[in-house]
Amino acid sequence: MLIKSAQFIISNSDYRKCPQDNRPEYAFIGRSNVGKSSLINMLTNRKGLAMTSSTPGKTMLINHFLINDEWYLVDLPGYGYARRGKENRERLQQIIEDYILQRESLTSLFVLVDSRHEPQKIDLAFMEWLGENGVPFSIVFTKIDKLGPVRLKQNVEEYKQKLLERWEELPPVFVTSSEKRSGREELLDYIGQINAS
Ligand code: GTP
Ligand code: MG
Repeated sequence: MLIKSAQFIISNSDYRKCPQDNRPEYAFIGRSNVGKSSLINMLTNRKGLAMTSSTPGKTMLINHFLINDEWYLVDLPGYGYARRGKENRERLQQIIEDYILQRESLTSLFVLVDSRHEPQKIDLAFMEWLGENGVPFSIVFTKIDKLGPVRLKQNVEEYKQKLLERWEELPPVFVTSSEKRSGREELLDYIGQINAS
């Protein structure tokens, strides 16, 4: 899919204030620092579109980016950032949960996990919560430039095995690097197919 335009529209802490035009939207979620905002910049070819940082806890709001005047990419705050303080963390968790459960134009949710690490409890628990609430999702492995091909294959396999302990079917899986721009076409084609259906 060709990205002809990408523009920031609005930031919100409340899903009810998000754009009301019913265009389909695709949202990225995952632990703080996993690479959600970087992935949006990589997919859109716009370096500073979504704000990124090497320090976790950068994205604090629901951010809408309009793509090709047709659909939205949505950057969400990360979950599980301990140093942010309990109250703040719970507030962000609520923003995320309300958005995911209530936002009608949310077409597809991508859960990002760091390809370097073994399955983390917090991510598995989050996926479990999605399952309980009937929210379909895909998994996006990030930062694959940080490990070699053999290790990557092992980690992805291990993750799939872990998921199969709980789920009968695997969700769609993508492997990406925002640094090396890997996985871009696969993700955009997936979104394009959903948009066309
Ligand atoms: P929060 O907004 O804090 O939840 O984080 P985020 O998930 O949006 O992460 P962000 O995109 O800000 O990236 C966090 C850090 O990881 C930054 O220093 C990025 O440069 C780095 N990073 C993101 N993606 C990649 C990648 O594919 N490869 C490498 N090597 N670094 C990456
Ligand atoms: Mg971010």
